[in-house]
Amino acid sequence: MSKNVLILPGDGIGPEIVEQAKRVLELVNEQYSLGLEFTEALVGGAAIDADGIPLPEATLDAAKKADAILLGAVGGPKWDAIPDFQIRPEKGLLGIRSNLGLFGNLRPAILYPQLAHASSLKPEIVSGLDILIVRELTGGIYFGQPRGVRVKEGGVREGYNTYVYDENEIRRIGRVAFEAARQRGKKLCSVDKANVLEVTVLWREIMDDLAKEYPDVELSHMYVDNAAMQLVRAPKQFDVMVTGNMFGDILSDAAAMLTGSIGMLPSASLDVNGKGMYEPCHGSAPDIAGQGKANPLATILSVAMMLRYSLNEGDTADKIEAAVSQVLDQNLRTVDIMSDGMTVVTTAQMGDAVVAALKG
Ligand code: NAI
Ligand code: MG
Repeated sequence: MSKNVLILPGDGIGPEIVEQAKRVLELVNEQYSLGLEFTEALVGGAAIDADGIPLPEATLDAAKKADAILLGAVGGPKWDAIPDFQIRPEKGLLGIRSNLGLFGNLRPAILYPQLAHASSLKPEIVSGLDILIVRELTGGIYFGQPRGVRVKEGGVREGYNTYVYDENEIRRIGRVAFEAARQRGKKLCSVDKANVLEVTVLWREIMDDLAKEYPDVELSHMYVDNAAMQLVRAPKQFDVMVTGNMFGDILSDAAAMLTGSIGMLPSASLDVNGKGMYEPCHGSAPDIAGQGKANPLATILSVAMMLRYSLNEGDTADKIEAAVSQVLDQNLRTVDIMSDGMTVVTTAQMGDAVVAALKG
């Protein structure tokens, strides 16, 4: 049976980088007879321009029907002046996430040895880093009720939010993390604040419970403050980390910056069935849009994640990742990862090089 991939180029550099990722996906589709079919739709600013809203009905329908979604990026100064927050480009993304229940956010932080100089840490500490942060994306304190700003007795205002996870929410993100660890280095570190927050006492209990189902995965626990320290002290001690929405937001951005290469980082957001939306971690980079300067590798690596996590084609994912490493070995660099002695290439030339490496 064929599988449908929805392609959402979006705004800014989105269309340029997605074009290269699509070439890679089309090539492996043909090479390995994956039986993928492609649909394309508008989202974000591009959809606002065409239809007046960031997530048209047709796009949401297509997203629901698809087996996996590839997204470029949305947003840009053109739409920043829109006063109504509901018709901002970002709402297109958030709308897909919430409508599809994409609760499992996978954020790898990989530092290719060829790019070790890009990190702010010493090469010996960070070169070859390959960790995966699994962040719960649809619950926790960012969504908990009640929330707001209220007036206390005496007229003093107080802001409040609610940090809540039920055991089913914890179990399903735990499962995503254990499954990912099983496919990788078989080590999972669950990050919490169980010395202070009851929510995370339950979190820890559920993770321990799940561990019984995954005897091949070694589970450890760490308080979030220590995890932040360890990430910058000795990041290679980790394989997979799993944590709630807020801790994950912060830790995954910190881990991403260890690599120093925003143009290299893919991400995935999964639902309970493993269907997902895949996108680079970076935004629409309006400052370089339309100039052929954008690095398409984060989007190409997002395609690899799509094959691994949603389309059950892990071997093909490995081949794409190897092809990316190969083009770095050929000293080809887009401007964002340029250094002395390397050859600057455009977005399309980088795509050409990955395609050539895959053809072998
Ligand atoms: P950004 O990630 O778009 O850009 C930050 C810096 O990194 C810029 O200097 C940019 O040129 C560079 N950069 C980003 N991706 C690159 C690539 N592939 N190759 C080479 N250089 C790259 O973040 P910024 O500037 O904060 O946001 C720009 C727009 O993107 C805003 O409208 C923002 O709302 C939107 N955005 C969208 C996201 C999404 O669609 N998931 C995520 C983050 C921001
Ligand atoms: Mg963030």
